[in-house]
Amino acid sequence: MDNLIIFSITFLVFLVLGSCNGGELRKNFYRISCPEAENIVRSVTWKRVASKNSLPAKLIRMHFHDCFVRGCDGSVLLDSTSKNTAEKDAVPNQSLEGFDVIDEIKSQLEKTCPGVVSCADIVALSARDSVSFQFNRSMWEVLTGRRDGSISRASEALANIPSPFFNFTTLKQSFANKSLTVQDLVVLSGAHTIGVGHCNFFSNRLYNFKGKGDADPSLNSTYSATLRTKCQSLSDNTTTVEMDPRSSLTFDNHYFSVLKQQQGLFQSDAALLTNKGASNIIDEMVSPRKFFNEFSQSMKRMGAIDVLTGTAGEIRKKCSVINS
Ligand code: HEM
Ligand SMILES: *[C@@H]1O[C@H](CO)[C@@H](O)[C@H](O)[C@H]1NC(C)=O
Ligand SMILES: *[C@@H]1O[C@H](CO)[C@@H](O)[C@H](O)[C@H]1NC(C)=O
Ligand SMILES: *[C@@H]1O[C@H](CO)[C@@H](O)[C@H](O)[C@H]1NC(C)=O
Ligand SMILES: *[C@@H]1O[C@H](CO)[C@@H](O)[C@H](O)[C@H]1NC(C)=O
Ligand SMILES: *[C@@H]1O[C@H](CO)[C@@H](O)[C@H](O)[C@H]1NC(C)=O
Ligand SMILES: *[C@@H]1O[C@H](CO)[C@@H](O)[C@H](O)[C@H]1NC(C)=O
Repeated sequence: MDNLIIFSITFLVFLVLGSCNGGELRKNFYRISCPEAENIVRSVTWKRVASKNSLPAKLIRMHFHDCFVRGCDGSVLLDSTSKNTAEKDAVPNQSLEGFDVIDEIKSQLEKTCPGVVSCADIVALSARDSVSFQFNRSMWEVLTGRRDGSISRASEALANIPSPFFNFTTLKQSFANKSLTVQDLVVLSGAHTIGVGHCNFFSNRLYNFKGKGDADPSLNSTYSATLRTKCQSLSDNTTTVEMDPRSSLTFDNHYFSVLKQQQGLFQSDAALLTNKGASNIIDEMVSPRKFFNEFSQSMKRMGAIDVLTGTAGEIRKKCSVINS
C-alpha cells in the first residue's frame, strides 16, 4: 500500500517535471498532420546549404536569437510595422540572415499541408538540418509542436540577447534567466566554431581595452597582431573575421582548443576561461564525442525555452507577419 502511494507520487512528480521541461513538445509532432514536414524542411535546407556554406552559422544563430527573446516562438521572423519595431531591427541583429530560406520552406509546407507547421518549428528544424548537412545525418533531435507568437519587440532583443562584452557573471545570469546552466553556456558557445564576427564587437580588445590605447592582456598576442591587420580601426563595423580561424565552415569542437590558446574572439568567449567550473567544462569539450553529445542535449534545452504549445499562439501563414 505504502509502496503504491510512493509510486503514484513519484509518477506525478515526473509528470509535472516532464511538462515544465519542454512543455508538450514531442518527437515528430507532425507525423499524422503533415508526415512530409521534416523531410521538406531538410531538403530545402540542404539544397540551400549546398550552394551557400555560410548558411548553417546564420540559421543556428537565428534559432538562438529566437529562443532568447520571448521563447522559441518565431518572433525573430516578424517584420517591423508602422506601430512596432521588431526584434529584427534591434541592435543585436547585425548579420542575422537566412530569412529567405525560412520563407521558402514555409511556402513549400503551405502547399503540402496549409496552416499546420509553425514558423518556430521551421527555425528549430532548419538550424539542426543546416549544421547537419556536413555530416549527412541529423546531429541532434528536435522535438516539435511549437506554436508562433505574435509579439516581437526590438527592446526585448536588446535586453535578452547576451552582449559580446559580457563578463562571466553577466553571461551566467543571462543564461540562468532562460533556465540554462553554466554547462549549457559553455557547450552552446561552441557554436562559435562556425561563422564570423564583425570587427566592432571585439576591436576594443585590439586597440583600446582600458581606454589607454592598450590591448586586452587575455588575448593571445600573436593572434591580436593578426587581427589588427584585418580590423584596422576602432570604427570599422563592416569587416568580418572568422571566429574559429581556418575552420569556420566546419562544425566541430575546435572552438574549445582555440579558447585554450587564448584566441577566443569576443570578451564573452574569453570570459569562459575566467571561471573554474566553466574552464573544467572547456577541458572536457576537447573530446569530440563528449562535445557532440553535450551539444545535442543543450540544444534540446535551448529549443524548449518558453515555448507556446497546445492552443497557445497560432500557426502563422506567412512567417514575417502575424495572421490577421
Ligand atoms: C554566450 C553568449 C553569446 C554571445 C555573447 C554571442 C555573441 C555573438 C556575436 C557578437 C556574434 C557576431 C555577430 C556579427 O558580428 O555579425 C555572434 C555570432 C554567432 N553566434 Fe553567438 N553569441 C553567444 C551565444 C551563441 C549561441 C548560444 C549560439 C548558437 C547555439 C551562437 C551562434 C553564433 C553563430 C553561429 C555566429 C556566427 C554568425 C554568422 O556567421 O553570421 N552564439 N555571436
Ligand atoms: C537590423 O536592423 C537595422 C536597423 O536597425 C535594419 O536596417 C536591418 O535591415 C536589420 N537587419 C536584419 C537582418 O533584419
Ligand atoms: C547520405 O546518406 C544517405 C542515407 O543515409 C545515403 O544514401 C547517401 O549515400 C549518403 N551520401 C553521402 C554523400 O555519403
Ligand atoms: C561584470 O559586469 C557587470 C556589469 O557590467 C559588473 O557590474 C560586474 O562588476 C562585472 N563583474 C566582474 C567580476 O568583473
Ligand atoms: C535577467 O533577467 C532580469 C529580470 O528579467 C533582468 O533584469 C536582467 O537584466 C537579466 N539579466 C541578463 C544578464 O540578461
Ligand atoms: C557603421 O558606422 C557608420 C559610421 O560610424 C554608421 O553610420 C553606421 O550606421 C554603422 N553601421 C552599423 C551596421 O552599425
Ligand atoms: C598563442 O597562439 C599560438 C599559436 O598561434 C600558440 O602557439 C600559443 O601557445 C598561444 N599562447 C597562449 C598563451 O596560449
